[in-house]
Order: sequence, then structure tokens, then C-alpha cells
Amino acid sequence: MKKLRVGVIGCGRISVRHLLPLTSIDEVELVACCDIKKDRADEAAEKYGIKAYYSYEEMINSEKLDAVHLCLPHYLHSSVAIYAFEHGVNVLTEKPMDVNLENAMEAVRVAKEKKLLYGVIFQCRYNNPAQLVKKAMTSGKLGKVLSARSVLTWNRSDDYYNNSDWKGTWDKEGGGVVIDQAIHSIDLVNWIIDSEIESVDCTMHNRGHKIVKVEDTAEGYITYKNGAKYGFYCMNNYACDEPIEIRMFCEKGRVTFSYHDAYIIYNDGTTEEAHENNKTNAADGGKDYWGSWHIRQIRQYYNALLGKEPLEISGEEALKTHKLIMTLYKKGGMLEE
Ligand SMILES: NC(=O)c1ccc[n+]([C@@H]2O[C@H](COP(=O)([O-])OP(=O)(O)OC[C@H]3O[C@@H](n4cnc5c(N)ncnc54)[C@H](O)[C@@H]3O)[C@@H](O)[C@H]2O)c1
Repeated sequence: MKKLRVGVIGCGRISVRHLLPLTSIDEVELVACCDIKKDRADEAAEKYGIKAYYSYEEMINSEKLDAVHLCLPHYLHSSVAIYAFEHGVNVLTEKPMDVNLENAMEAVRVAKEKKLLYGVIFQCRYNNPAQLVKKAMTSGKLGKVLSARSVLTWNRSDDYYNNSDWKGTWDKEGGGVVIDQAIHSIDLVNWIIDSEIESVDCTMHNRGHKIVKVEDTAEGYITYKNGAKYGFYCMNNYACDEPIEIRMFCEKGRVTFSYHDAYIIYNDGTTEEAHENNKTNAADGGKDYWGSWHIRQIRQYYNALLGKEPLEISGEEALKTHKLIMTLYKKGGMLEE
């Protein structure tokens, strides 16, 4: 069988979470990688025995690719995705879809027009605890979510921002803790509640990162048309990376979950739980506070590309969370500062 030819664009920190899984899928052949920083592209190319490019246009035009993975600064995601679609190439992009809504919607439109598969990484949805809670929700066992809350306290040091030419900037990262880190916990809750949003309120502050202008702290309150109410708090000025904590008070039970564990206590006294096997995840090289299941999502994407099952996290699906994130920034009030 002819293998799908795949390339990775952007060879920075997250790229290993794409490069490595791509070497383990039988139907896929990882053929090329690209980074404008030559040393990064060369290093990845040597490690995986693939060809290095320093221009994504050149890679796409030379390699007859079936799909590209985008591991780029946020502001480039939609424009590079659109370039790939216009050249007949499917795309799996890292979160977030973009730094604004219009570009993200345009990428979804072009993918649809060209009948290509557009996937967006939200790997935390593939953690065992998150899967258990979603299943209990969709089966009706938990009833509707009445209230949910999430807390994320991570550490992004001044060095983290100093060592990047795009993080901590409004134009290239599109914000701070909300668009880059808390997007995972906000996405999990939004995905599990799965209802149209009625109202959004949010405050944002920069309390501890004086070298950047973006927010490092935010709290928000979201109401849904199905009656659910969701409050969140996040900050990336904490001394360590704690696992996210999510709680849900539902019609038929209560839920507590994080990356490692989920516990459901139903109103009738029965319980269910799910856990992550740390060894498996360490082998995959993931980090145990944000979820390391890129490999599950990447396999799902290729199963969809091969026509074996529908794509789970499509551009349309990811837009639900992207719209919410963009509204949080409008309400948060820091964009104008
Ligand atoms: N899913 C997750 O849990 C997770 C975790 C970390 C990062 N990410 C996401 O992954 C993406 C990349 O983040 P990162 O931490 O790897 O950033 P990074 O800065 O380490 O890597 C980005 C790379 O893109 C390269 N690049 C910039 N412009 C380019 C262009 N025009 N063509 C080719 N290469 C170009 C840069 O030189 C850099 O090497 C972001 O969207 C980030 O939010 C996701």
C-alpha cells in the first residue's frame, strides 16, 4: 500500500510530539521537516532521517505531500494552513487555530471548499480521565452539567518569554496564559458541556511578568444555553506546573478530574474512575500536567484521512473553543492597553 507522505512545519519545542508519533504509524511516511531556523530543521532532519527545508512553500511545492503538521507561532497557523489547502495538502495544526477569529474561520472555509481534512490538536481530550467524563456525559449517565469550574496554575518564567521571539506578544502569540496554556482546560470543559454559549465575562491581568505585556492571570464566567454555568481561574506565574483541576456538578452526579485521575460519584452512590498510566506517558515523552496523548489524536487524524472513521477534532469542532477564547480576550479588556 502506498504510504501517506507527511511533513512537519516548525521544529521547535512541541515538534517532537508530532515527529515521533509519525514514525510509528504504518500507513504514514514522514518525509520532510521545515523551519526558518536552519539548525532546528537540520537537527530534526538528521534525527528522523528526513529532508530539511527552510521554507514551507518550497517543502510543499517539492514533496507531493498528503499532509502537513503545523507547529508554528500562533499567528502563522491559519495562513500556512490555507497555503497548504490551496496546494491540495491536508493539515493537522497545533492549537490555537490563530490569534484572531476571522483567519481561523477562513482556514475552515478553504479546507471545506477544497475537500481537505483540517485537524486541530487538543490532545488533553484523549487523556483517560477526560474520555471517561465525556462518555458519562454523552451517554446521559451524568445528566446535564449544572456548574463547572477549572483551575490552572502553571509556571512560565521570564526566561521562557526571553528565549522566544514570539511568546508574550499580542501580535504573534495573541495573548498569554489563556490562549497558550488555559486553552486546554477551557476546551475540556467547553467540549464536555457541549452547548451554545449564552454569555461570557472575563477579567485579565499581568501580575508577575513585567517583561511582557500579555495577561498572566485571568478569571472568567461563562453561561450556556443549556443552563450550565462555568467559572475558571488561570495563572502562569505559579512556582510549578500543577495538574489542571476540573470539577463538575451535574444533574446525576459530581465529577472531579485532572490529567492523572477522574472520579465520578453518581447521586445513587455508585462510582466510576479512570487513571493515566504514568509509565506509558513517560515513554511517549509527554508532560504529566498537560496530557501527552498527541499520539492518540494523530492516529485518529490519520484513521480519518484513510476513511476509516470520521475526524473527531475538525476545524469546525475546534472553532467552538476558538470563538470562546477570542471572546474572553474581548471581554478581558487588556487588548486595548
Ligand atoms: N498541545 C500542546 O500541549 C502544546 C504544547 C506546547 C506548544 N504547543 C503549540 O505548538 C506551537 C509551537 O509551539 P513551540 O513551543 O514549539 O514554539 P517554538 O517557538 O519552540 O517553535 C516554533 C518554531 O516555528 C519556527 N518558525 C517560525 N516561523 C516559521 C516559518 N515561517 N516557517 C517555518 N518555521 C517557522 C520557529 O523558528 C520555531 O522553531 C504553538 O502553537 C504552541 O501553542 C502546543
